[in-house]
Amino acid sequence: MHKLTVAIDGPSGSGKSSVSKEAARRLDAAYLDTGAMYRAVTWHALDAGTDLTDADAVAAAVVAADLFISTDPDVEKVTIHGTDVTQAIREPFVSEAVSAVATNLAARKELVARQRTIIAAHPRIVAEGRDITTVVAPDASARILLTASEEARLRRRGLQLGGTQSAAELQAQVLARDAKDSTVVNFQVASDGVATVDSSELDFEQTVVTVLEAIKAQA
Ligand code: C5P
Repeated sequence: MHKLTVAIDGPSGSGKSSVSKEAARRLDAAYLDTGAMYRAVTWHALDAGTDLTDADAVAAAVVAADLFISTDPDVEKVTIHGTDVTQAIREPFVSEAVSAVATNLAARKELVARQRTIIAAHPRIVAEGRDITTVVAPDASARILLTASEEARLRRRGLQLGGTQSAAELQAQVLARDAKDSTVVNFQVASDGVATVDSSELDFEQTVVTVLEAIKAQA
């Protein structure tokens, strides 16, 4: 079968994970959620009692992490040293701490290397995150930046969290994480050769179809 590497970046709430996973299914490809890797090593650092303000300790915890992530789009599974953390990594305490890992350059270097190894091991794969189109796989067969207006992103986050948080709380959280994330990777503006898909006015199916068209146009 034709080799295919698809790189998709975007901010939180752009729909990037669910859209990338569905695109992978329709392309008969594997799926890599790199955000889940950042979350899993953050869970590991917290579990090991690492001082998140100590950059060397954070980097050491990431390098030592025995991390497994499923690349089957139909099997969501992440383990750390054999412990299933698939659900735990979605907890707010992980989301709040993840920037300490994401802004640590040594930790990023380690995770980027692991992501490249996983991508290289799959003849067909859709990988999504913040720096896939620019750092992890700049030579991918297709590269897409999936964006959405701030309003649409906040609305989707609210739905994802079950609508229990106030709009103001949500806005503060999403914008704070994006602001921290932007200090290390630029995932808001497409770099040269990267196609932008704006999902603000599209429903899920329309977004998937538009992304698949953008992939076809490049690959
Ligand atoms: O995509 P998700 O929200 O699960 O990502 C969690 C966090 O992991 C992001 O807020 C960001 O700090 C970090 N991340 C990153 N680079 C990636 C993927 C995620 O820095 N490629």
